[in-house]
Amino acid sequence: MLIKDKHFRPFLDHHQIAQQVARLGSQLNQDYAGKNPLFVAVLNGAFMFAADLMRHITIPSEITFVKFTSYHNLLSTGTVDQIIGFQTDLRDRHVVLVEDIVDTGITMTEILHEIRTFQPASVEICALLLKAEALQREVAVKYVGFEIENKFVVGYGLDYDGHGRNLPGLVILEEETQF
Ligand code: IMP
Repeated sequence: MLIKDKHFRPFLDHHQIAQQVARLGSQLNQDYAGKNPLFVAVLNGAFMFAADLMRHITIPSEITFVKFTSYHNLLSTGTVDQIIGFQTDLRDRHVVLVEDIVDTGITMTEILHEIRTFQPASVEICALLLKAEALQREVAVKYVGFEIENKFVVGYGLDYDGHGRNLPGLVILEEETQF
């Protein structure tokens, strides 16, 4: 499949993703029962994951959204700018950060730093995808949908230069053939 100017092949279909999202949802329901957790979804990439995950949350909870920029094309810039900030009082709240993917961990490190200044009761990360080999920061991701290899993926909210977020499943970048 061609997305913008690169070829991608199927990676995880919507059914496989839905199974893991349901598993994460029931785990969160158990772990956060009676804690009124505040889910903080990181835009733009987590919009689809967060929407599906929240449909599995049956305990009293709230959701809010934050937006940072850190990624351009296929390479991380290594810096993070805040575009939409925290609008809900985080003090003494049990916060669950909902991310599409943890790659270098730079974005998560920045967000965790920011969140801790508000003195929440606890903070955990729930990421659909974790590129464990790409981690450059020590980030503990407690809830992980899939651990994947260090390759570029698109779909289910994740984009390649703005494209492909609408795909219901995930596709992975094809290796460039050398001639
Ligand atoms: P990190 O700061 O390097 O961990 O990158 C986190 C952000 O980079 C994610 O929220 C995504 O927006 C983006 N990102 C990292 N890997 C990919 C990928 O394979 N496809 C699309 N976006 C990605």
